[in-house]
Amino acid sequence: MKTRWYKDAVVYQIYPRSFCDGNGDGIGDIRGIISKLDYIKSLGVDAVWLSPVYKSPNDDNGYDISDYRDIMDEFGALDDWKEMIEGMHSRGIRLIMDLVVNHTSDEHAWFVESRKKDSNYRDYYIWRKGRGKNGKKPPNNWTSNFVGPAWEYDEQSGEWYLHLFSKKQPDLNWENPKVRQEVADICNYWFDLGVDGFRCDVITYISKRDGLPNGKLKFPLIGNENYIVGPNYHKYIRELNERSFSRYDSMTVGESIGITPDNAFEAIDESVGELDTVFSFDHMGVDFKMNVIPAKFNLAKYKKILDKWQQLPKTCQPTIFLENHDQPRCLPRFSGDYGDKRELAGMALAASMLFMRATPYIYQGQEIGMTNCDFRQEDYQDIMSVNALKMIKRVCPILLPYARKVLLKRARDHARTPMQWTAGENAGFSTVKPWMKLNPNYKEINVEDSESREDSLLNFYRKALAYRKGKDVIICGDFKLVYPKSKDIFAYVREYHGKRLFVIVNFKNKKVDFKLPKDLTFNNCSLALNNYADASKTLKDMKLREYEALVYEL
Ligand code: NOJ
Repeated sequence: MKTRWYKDAVVYQIYPRSFCDGNGDGIGDIRGIISKLDYIKSLGVDAVWLSPVYKSPNDDNGYDISDYRDIMDEFGALDDWKEMIEGMHSRGIRLIMDLVVNHTSDEHAWFVESRKKDSNYRDYYIWRKGRGKNGKKPPNNWTSNFVGPAWEYDEQSGEWYLHLFSKKQPDLNWENPKVRQEVADICNYWFDLGVDGFRCDVITYISKRDGLPNGKLKFPLIGNENYIVGPNYHKYIRELNERSFSRYDSMTVGESIGITPDNAFEAIDESVGELDTVFSFDHMGVDFKMNVIPAKFNLAKYKKILDKWQQLPKTCQPTIFLENHDQPRCLPRFSGDYGDKRELAGMALAASMLFMRATPYIYQGQEIGMTNCDFRQEDYQDIMSVNALKMIKRVCPILLPYARKVLLKRARDHARTPMQWTAGENAGFSTVKPWMKLNPNYKEINVEDSESREDSLLNFYRKALAYRKGKDVIICGDFKLVYPKSKDIFAYVREYHGKRLFVIVNFKNKKVDFKLPKDLTFNNCSLALNNYADASKTLKDMKLREYEALVYEL
């Protein structure tokens, strides 16, 4: 029976490689996570989304899986994982695993077999003959999300295979019913071990258009109109839901580029039996043109995008996030130049998201206000950054300084610097030098310091999470933006059966006038949450201070 527990849940995302190293090899692991379960519990979150921990050669840090039923050596063993999930469940925390099934690793046994032309596994992947004389040109013009063509030539069979990500991540052929059954079996294997749900990686890419036609340039990719929410997407997800998700009290969240508020009903409405929720990325694009070129953040545009999701029928549950392992840190991305007000800015961002009608996701480190890192070129580790730099060096070296500037704003590496636990050696992340550059600001920004101050960002998250728990007005109340066009203030009213919540957030590092909306009437009002100790107890016309955040009950 589906209880839809996720409607009143807050999820904490762990990127295991960078969370906590339990065995002193410089790489985060499962024993490290186990050692931090009390910390995670103390935040007041209800579930953890764990980025992939399966066996993997790590071309894309675990998003290239070579065995879906076992744990990566660097992270520990299945017994450690069992101890971890038990530790979570005994603390009332659910576990959402990452389901990466658009592609596998090229080291997965299926692909190793599939390379043989006459193997039963040949059709598990997407193999095609090349174009041109001798077939030495790729079958079509699609490009990979990680730069370069989306096809790799295989000498052994004289054919090409499709990889929408790195060439070590061959795409599975979902047209093959055996592949679809394998995926359902994998999900059920983990459900039977106790997991509570899945975050489904690039799930909207699984169905490719018939004939794999040439694509148009949609900067920075060619051809993605031929595989985003492709012709059989809904059919395949419904089938998977029927064979797996619906049999457990589970929750699913799809990484779902291409699902928009206009077509979300078909994908996540409770009546359709597909996924429960999706991540949409439109609000993450507000400070980038074409998803790559840095642009000025526009709050009005940002609110308009989020508002469209809020207005979906109550049978469609939105999600909200400001960070994940593929995004730069939200400070100063959405807060501008915060100067000495980093934590106030972090609280403003937290307050803006946590009271929407949505399942909120908090990414490790966001709760202490971790920031982007001042990387040098040689510090980048992520395959996407490394490939982009290589390509620019080869094709247009004159653009290198610009590319470096873009990476300083955009690179996925920013979210992957080790978690900052203490001001001590290696930020308390590990006893040895971590696998990836530590942000040198760990001396000031770390959990230990945040714990020691009542008014820290970390404690603000705790208060906010404790406050929102179980409140109908937050779980399912109507959402109405106040001053939608304001470029400084993010304010909204939530309403449910006569109960109202008024959230006001100054997004800027300057004082801003706030006038009570003319049509707002109320008799009683009480201040529920604030980030300045001497905040106004009543809702009235006021001058909001820098990054001031206020939540009133009316
Ligand atoms: C989306 C994941 O979030 C990202 O980290 C990964 O590189 C790609 N999918 C490919 O699996």
